[in-house]
Amino acid sequence: MIGVDMTEEQLAVARKFLPAQMKRFGFDRPNVDFRHGVIEDLESVGIADESVDVVISNCVINLSPDKPRVFSEILRALKPGGEMYIADVFCDRRLPTELMNDQTLVGECLAGAMYIEDFRRLLAGLGGPDYRVMARNPIILDDAEIEAKLGLAQFFSVTFRAFKLPTLEDRCEDYGQIAEYLGTIPDEPHSFRLDDHHLFETGRPVPVCGNTASMLSETRLAPHFRVTGNRRRHFGLFPCSPTTAPTTKSTSGTSCC
Ligand SMILES: C[S@@+](CC[C@H](N)C(=O)[O-])C[C@H]1O[C@@H](n2cnc3c(N)ncnc32)[C@H](O)[C@@H]1O
Repeated sequence: MIGVDMTEEQLAVARKFLPAQMKRFGFDRPNVDFRHGVIEDLESVGIADESVDVVISNCVINLSPDKPRVFSEILRALKPGGEMYIADVFCDRRLPTELMNDQTLVGECLAGAMYIEDFRRLLAGLGGPDYRVMARNPIILDDAEIEAKLGLAQFFSVTFRAFKLPTLEDRCEDYGQIAEYLGTIPDEPHSFRLDDHHLFETGRPVPVCGNTASMLSETRLAPHFRVTGNRRRHFGLFPCSPTTAPTTKSTSGTSCC
């Protein structure tokens, strides 16, 4: 595991907890390497092309002034079939420039929140047309001054996964494919949740769209699924529900996801 942060103090905190975490997970030597650098340039911290299985991040990308670069770096670093699994703050609109430059709002992880549709377009433009939402929770602004500045803009914390797969399409297409979860992921014997509208019960074969079939058969999930069918015959659009799972709980306060 490689941890990247641009703040030495933050890295010092992470390193301080290393011995306790090694003890907790039974490691004699650390399997984590903390590196000082920016996520806009992962090459400068020694992360080679197509060398990473999974990129995880919590509440960092909103702080980046160059989000397209961050996502293209993530996709450069991921192996084919690799996955980004990210939680961050998003907004229901583009914020005016004066709010984006407001240092209080930057510090609260609000000013840099991407308009969710711009995020979708950005990822699609980089070759990721089908990100999957795991959780989406509204952020309650409990500060009257901040609320007054932001007006009606709505913020939410979104946890999503997106795979590096050239086979993904911008819509769910039906090729008559079937997927069955084998119940073999450790700690997930009964079911596996791919996203907010795909819960696979162990042993139950279910029809899936072409994108879902690819996510389950061309990634690290492949050993745990039996996916039948291929894309040779097309049956039209797949009736996939959009990512509209009910919001589960509110995130109070404004910082972090
Ligand atoms: C809100 S904290 C989140 C920290 C941690 N991920 C967590 O969940 O607790 C944001 C962190 O992102 C780091 N950061 C912000 N922009 C960055 C960038 N462009 N490159 C690397 N690190 C960055 C900051 O130094 C800070 O440690």
